[in-house]
Amino acid sequence: MSDTPILVTCGLPYTNGPCHLGHLRTYVPADFYVRYLRHCGREVVFVCGSDNHGTPIVISAEAEGVTPRQMSERYNAHFDETFKKMGIFFDRFGMTDDPMNHETTTEIVTKLIENGHIYKKTISQSYCPHCEMFLPDRYVEGICPYCGEKARGDECDQGCGKHLEPGELKEPVCKICGSPAEFRDQEHYFLKLGDFKDFLNGYLPTIQGTSNAKNYASMWVKEGLHDWCVTRSFNWGVKFPGHDDLVVYVWVDAPIGYISFTKEWAKATGGDWEQFWKPEGKGEVIHFIGQDIIYHHCVFWPSLLEGSGYKPPKAVVASGMVKIDDRKFSKSRGCVVWTNEDYLDIGLSPDYLRYYLLSYTSHTKELNFSWKEFQARVNNEFVDTIGNFFYRTLHFAANKMGGIPDLDAEPQVLEAIKSTIAQLDKAVGEYEFKAAVEAVLALGNTANTYIQTNAPWKLMKTDENAARQTIRNCLQFVKALTILLDGIMPVKAQEAWELLGYKGKVADCRISEALTGFEHRELPTPKILFAKIEDEKVAEYENTLKMRLEEAKAKEAGSAAAGSASAQTASTKPKTENKGDKKMEDNNEPVEQISIDEFFRTQLKVGKILEVEPVPKSKKLLRIMVDLGEESPRQIVSGIAPYYKPEELVGLSVVVVANLKPAKLCGVESNGMILAAGDEASLLTTKFGVAPGTKVL
Ligand code: 2FM
Ligand code: ZN
Repeated sequence: MSDTPILVTCGLPYTNGPCHLGHLRTYVPADFYVRYLRHCGREVVFVCGSDNHGTPIVISAEAEGVTPRQMSERYNAHFDETFKKMGIFFDRFGMTDDPMNHETTTEIVTKLIENGHIYKKTISQSYCPHCEMFLPDRYVEGICPYCGEKARGDECDQGCGKHLEPGELKEPVCKICGSPAEFRDQEHYFLKLGDFKDFLNGYLPTIQGTSNAKNYASMWVKEGLHDWCVTRSFNWGVKFPGHDDLVVYVWVDAPIGYISFTKEWAKATGGDWEQFWKPEGKGEVIHFIGQDIIYHHCVFWPSLLEGSGYKPPKAVVASGMVKIDDRKFSKSRGCVVWTNEDYLDIGLSPDYLRYYLLSYTSHTKELNFSWKEFQARVNNEFVDTIGNFFYRTLHFAANKMGGIPDLDAEPQVLEAIKSTIAQLDKAVGEYEFKAAVEAVLALGNTANTYIQTNAPWKLMKTDENAARQTIRNCLQFVKALTILLDGIMPVKAQEAWELLGYKGKVADCRISEALTGFEHRELPTPKILFAKIEDEKVAEYENTLKMRLEEAKAKEAGSAAAGSASAQTASTKPKTENKGDKKMEDNNEPVEQISIDEFFRTQLKVGKILEVEPVPKSKKLLRIMVDLGEESPRQIVSGIAPYYKPEELVGLSVVVVANLKPAKLCGVESNGMILAAGDEASLLTTKFGVAPGTKVL
C-alpha cells in the first residue's frame, strides 16, 4: 500500500448563505473518501474553510446591515457546525479572511509579480457617476459581449456561461442605483495565463480524479488562454501588494486558502504542510469540487501554483450538479433543500442523506433529488435489507445464544467479504462512489439472503451447532458491513459497532478487521438501528418544497413586498445565493416588471392577530389565528417563532396574502401568508388603526 500522505480539500463555501444540498453533493463523497483511505491505513489530512471575499458577500452584508467580516464569521460557524452534524469532520476549517490567508496570498502574488507573470494594464471599466465608484463584478449588470444575453459583471449567468473580464460587459447598469454606467479608465493587474500553456499541456494529461475535470480543462487550454484580471477596486479582500485601493480577485485568494488552512492545521498539530505544497514534498493534494468550478481548479489554480513555486494538485474530483424534482437548483426560485431547515432540524438522520447522495448516481452525473426517491431508496434498498439483517442477527445472537458463538467464520463468508473489499477498493480508486456503496449493499443482500436461507431460528430446533455456526457467520457479516458502512453512515455504523460489543470508534479501525474474529463473547441488548421514513412525513417535506416554490413564484411576480421574508413557510432568513462570485441571485437579481393587473391578482389584506401558539415539534412555526374581516378567523402557519414570543403578536395588525392556496406545514393547515421583511422577520404593519380585511393597495 502506498505510504504517500494525502491532503484532501473541498471547495470553499461562500459566507453569504446557508448550507444546502448542492454543497453536500461534494462534501459527503469527500468525507467518504477520506474515511475509506483512513480505514486503509493511509495518512490523510482533510481541510476546508469558508470563502469570505468577493462582491456577493459585501452586497449581502450591506443588505443585512452587518460588516462582511461579521457575516462571514456567522456563516463560517454555520458551515462548520452543519458539516459536523453531517458527520463531516475537517482537520481544519478556516476562513479566507484570516491573517494566515492574507499573508500567504500576499506572498504568492508577490512571487508571481517577481516572476514576471503579472503585468499592469489600463482598462476601460464600468463606473457609476451617480454612486461615484467603479463597479466590480456583481455591482454591474448588462449584456454579454459573446451571446447577447443579460449578464453580470463577471459572468454570463443567463446565457453562454462565460467568465467575463472587467470592462467586457456591454450596456452596463449600476446595480446599486440602477443608473447607466460609464466606462472609465483604470489601471489593473493581469495574470498572463498564456505563460502557462506549455506547463498546462504537460500537466493536464497527468492530472488524476474524475475525467470531466481533465477533459474540460484540456479542451479550454486548446481553445486558448485569456489573461485574467487579478485585481478589483474594492476594499474587502486581500490588498494587492503596494496598492491600498486594490484587492486581489476573490478567485486568487480563495484557492490559496487551501494552502493557508493546511498551514493552520500544521501549526496546531505540528504537522508538515510543505510536504503537500512544495515541489520536493512527497504528499499529494486531491481537490473535491463542483463541476462548475473546474476551470478555476484545473487551469487558473495550477498556473498560480506553478508561477509561484508551488506544486499543482495530483487530482481534481468534480461532482455533477444538483436538481430538485427535475427543476434547476435555484435559491431565488425556491428550488432548494436547505440542510438544516429542511432536513436536520426536522429530525432526519444525516446518515440517510449521506447514503442517498453517495448512491443516487455516479459522482459526475447530475443528481435529481426528490423526497419520494429518497424515501424509496432508504426504505427499500437499505432498511429492508441491511437494517433487517443487522437486527435479526444481533437479536438472535444476544437473546438466543447468549452472545457471540465461540467459533470462526466459515471461509465462504470471508471470501465474500474479501471480494467486496476488492470491489470497494477499485470503485474508490476510480471515484465511483455509487459503485462503492453498491458493493456494500450487495454484501448486505448476500448476508440477508444467507440468514433467510439458513433460518437459524429453525435450525436451532434441529441442529443447534449448525445454527450457532450460521449466527457466527452472520456476525462476521455484521462486523464487516459495519466497518464498510462507516464512510456511508458514520452515526449508524458507530451504533452498530457498539451493539457488536466494541467500546472504541469504528472510524479508527482498519478495513482488514472486517476479516478478523471477535475477542469477546458478550453482546449488549440489541435495538433497531434503522427506521423507515413514513409516507406522511414525505408528504410534509414535499409540501414545504412546494410552498417555497410557490412563494418564490409569487415573489418573482412582484406580489410580495420587495425584500420581504414570507412567513408562511418555515423560512424567514433571506436566501441569498452562496455561490457568491458565480451565481448570486435573490437580492441582486434584476426584478422582472409586471403589469398592474398581475399585481392585483395577489390579494393583500390587513389582518388582526387574535391567537398565537407554537406548532408542536417545530422550532420555527407558529399557528396564528388572524381576523381578516371574514366570517371566521383564518389559521396561518408562520415561520417567525425564532423572532417573536406568541404573546407579543396578539393584537398586532399585519399584512396578509389572503388568496394563497392552502398548504400544510408540519401537518398544520395554513391559509395565507403574513408578510415580513429582512433577516429578523420584521412584520409589516399599518401606521393607523385599519379595520381587519381592509385591502392593501
Ligand atoms: O464556487 C464557490 O462556491 C467558491 N466559493 C469555491 C471556492 S473553492 C476554492 F477555490 F477556494
Ligand atoms: Zn450607481
